[in-house]
Amino acid sequence: MIEGYNPMRGADVDDDFEQLHVLRETCPIGFVDGMYFVTRAEDVDRIGRDFKTFGQCSFAPTVDEKLGGNPRSDDLKQLGETDRPVHTEFRRHIASALTNTAVQNYKPVIERVGAALLDAFPPDEVDFVAAFALEFPARVIAELAGLPLQLASRVRAYATDMTSTLDPEVADEVATEAKARRDQFDQEVLEFILDVRANGQVPGVLLHHLLEARNADGSSPSDARLMTAFTKDLVFGGTDTTAHLLGNLLYQVLSVPGLYQEIRADRSLVPATVEESLRHLSPVSFTHRMALHDVKVGDTEIPRGSVLMLALGSANRDEARFPDSDRFDIRRKNLNHFAFNKGIHLCVGAPLVRIEAITGLNLILDRYTGMALAPDAAYKRVSFYFMRGPRSLQVRLTP
Ligand code: HEM
Repeated sequence: MIEGYNPMRGADVDDDFEQLHVLRETCPIGFVDGMYFVTRAEDVDRIGRDFKTFGQCSFAPTVDEKLGGNPRSDDLKQLGETDRPVHTEFRRHIASALTNTAVQNYKPVIERVGAALLDAFPPDEVDFVAAFALEFPARVIAELAGLPLQLASRVRAYATDMTSTLDPEVADEVATEAKARRDQFDQEVLEFILDVRANGQVPGVLLHHLLEARNADGSSPSDARLMTAFTKDLVFGGTDTTAHLLGNLLYQVLSVPGLYQEIRADRSLVPATVEESLRHLSPVSFTHRMALHDVKVGDTEIPRGSVLMLALGSANRDEARFPDSDRFDIRRKNLNHFAFNKGIHLCVGAPLVRIEAITGLNLILDRYTGMALAPDAAYKRVSFYFMRGPRSLQVRLTP
């Protein structure tokens, strides 16, 4: 590894593209903090797809310990923390609500939520992250689920609290308070689901899909599983991740001279712009796997039980897959990126992400004939090492 570089320290990953480049060249499987750190696209690809050799593990292994150990039943684990056969069944429950066809039906809600946020923008200048990126995905999920106001208004804060419980750099007292609020929200969502079940009135399409889900034997998933699927897999999985994509996307579009006007004039370029954003600044930088038996990756022998950290953001900058990889180029030939990983755990929310980002960007392009980064705007990454997105983005608006 590079002396002093630790990818689990927020400050080290702020702008680590050069370090990752050196690691891909000189030390593609490093060892840091007791984990194997995998940076090349070829290895990330192989490990992500080989679910027989590499199993899932806790999203942030150190933090469960930090919070005093938390042995959870499968029903309380996030989908991405489970292996087959449990994973297959749980994934089906969630995936039915998020297919490409299903999300097309959500477009009117997505457009309405996006337009309402733009209506509230001040006339000349706005912090796009606070006024749009953070609110948009949270409100879309809350609306699609039909949450009552007292739960809907806490979706954003819930995502922040989840992050605090996963971030090893958050102080213990802050993490403990966040955990208490998180558990309270989980409990209230569970009560809401029980209530909906009892009175048979399903308020929103996302919950409808979950409540209609059946296991292979025809039984319903447990109440705890439905609560986890909703709060962890949909709310947490789909909020900050998408917010970071939106912040990155606008930052990138406004950083290339003339690009805003170019895509404004030709909207067929919007989907490729979103995909290139996901590649160039991946909102989720890492994921973890555990070796289920002894295995060799490249020249490195990895013993059974080892934890591997897959650097998705690094794989997305690997020159071997993406020539001139540091360049943001919406006309790139290969947009088959790693932002959603590969294999059976590929992000189940990807269809929703795409429709939200494409719709959101089109709404902005419709509304403003011009937009520019404010002169003092600087890209400062959020503190959680796991994610990449700007904390704020001050932009100037031309109606
Ligand atoms: C830009 C936004 C997003 C990014 C970059 C992203 C990234 C990812 C990645 C990299 C994985 C794979 C993790 C692994 O292999 O261990 C994943 C899985 C997952 N994502 Fe997303 N995600 C995004 C948005 C969403 C949304 C909108 C939802 C739901 C509404 C969602 C729900 C999930 C779930 C449930 C999994 C676990 C899938 C499985 O294990 O089968 N994500 N996501």
